[in-house]
Amino acid sequence: MRKSQIIGTGYYVPGKIVTNFDLMKIMDTSDEWITTKIGIKERRIAAEDELTSDMAAEAAKKAMKNANITADDIDMILLATNFPDHISPATSVAIQKKIGAKNAFAFDIRTGGCPGSVFSLSIASKYIADGTCKTILVATADINSKGLDWEDRSTAVIFGDGAAAIILKSVDETEAGIIDSKLYTDPEGYYAAYIPAGGVAEPITEQAIKEKRQYFRMDGRAIFDFATKAFPDAVKEIVKKNKMTLSDIDFVISHQANLNIIRQSMENLGIPMEKTYYNIHKYGNTSSASVGIALAEAIENGVIKKGDKVVLVSFGAGTAWGTVLLEL
Ligand code: ACO
Repeated sequence: MRKSQIIGTGYYVPGKIVTNFDLMKIMDTSDEWITTKIGIKERRIAAEDELTSDMAAEAAKKAMKNANITADDIDMILLATNFPDHISPATSVAIQKKIGAKNAFAFDIRTGGCPGSVFSLSIASKYIADGTCKTILVATADINSKGLDWEDRSTAVIFGDGAAAIILKSVDETEAGIIDSKLYTDPEGYYAAYIPAGGVAEPITEQAIKEKRQYFRMDGRAIFDFATKAFPDAVKEIVKKNKMTLSDIDFVISHQANLNIIRQSMENLGIPMEKTYYNIHKYGNTSSASVGIALAEAIENGVIKKGDKVVLVSFGAGTAWGTVLLEL
């Protein structure tokens, strides 16, 4: 069995900053409500002509530079996204073209957005474990702004756009890398966060557009209650499964959905907030990209260092959630 070592990370966020005060000009909301309820001050919004594959390719170029590899070294590209460039074919193939990874094969996974970070890393690590691949680009990217009803204050204030990339390299079992991962889904929450129209169950018709059914809908309270249980329970489970204790963990990097979810979950775990890294105040919820952006930024800022034991945790639509336990 081969282990997956993280040899490079990168992230990209669009240049356009939209603050809470900007949102107050177009909807009935306040900086105070968004800050206290969610912890967001501003978010990045993609340019009109910017694609998910453009953002992922930018993040990938940074990760390849940090990893000191070229695109020729990559033998698989995996993209997790909720907002692909097209419904078909896979957006990861567009990333392959944009970075010039001519020796790779590529495919996308759809996990409803936010859980995609841990699902993609978990899947990629299996391709390394069985010897199929030596170097994998795991990209996570979402242009949430295109899937939002900008007149719906209950969803529009939450999200931002961004991309992250992680390069995994096959190493010996004894070296640092991904130790374990665990994924979960519960159909009970299938409609707690979803986009009604656009799939085969409900094509986009004139009526659907009139009712704005092509946009994201969410039962915020249900997701909050699910997340504040799923997050700490999943962290406890993966740590216990690997015969560690929570005190062995140097950092918990969570999906950036709501600062109160992170605070409540860290408190439940009995782990101080110093042992997590958050950037939700700057970027909002970037769905599948959020864990990767937080990890890449924490490494870039020297907060997380080589040798640290880290649990990545994400949760969201599905409902789906999961963890990745790793040594950097
Ligand atoms: N500005 C001002 N007021 C608002 C806003 C807003 N942007 N949005 C809602 N309100 C109002 C509501 O209308 C309501 O007013 P009322 O009491 O007069 O009816 C009041 O604020 C409280 O609304 P609630 O929805 O009950 O507020 P809640 O405490 O549940 O917080 C929130 C809402 C922040 C969305 C919270 O439920 C949450 O963060 N849930 C988790 C969401 C999440 O993590 N989603 C991401 C995962 S989904 C995915 O995977 C893509």
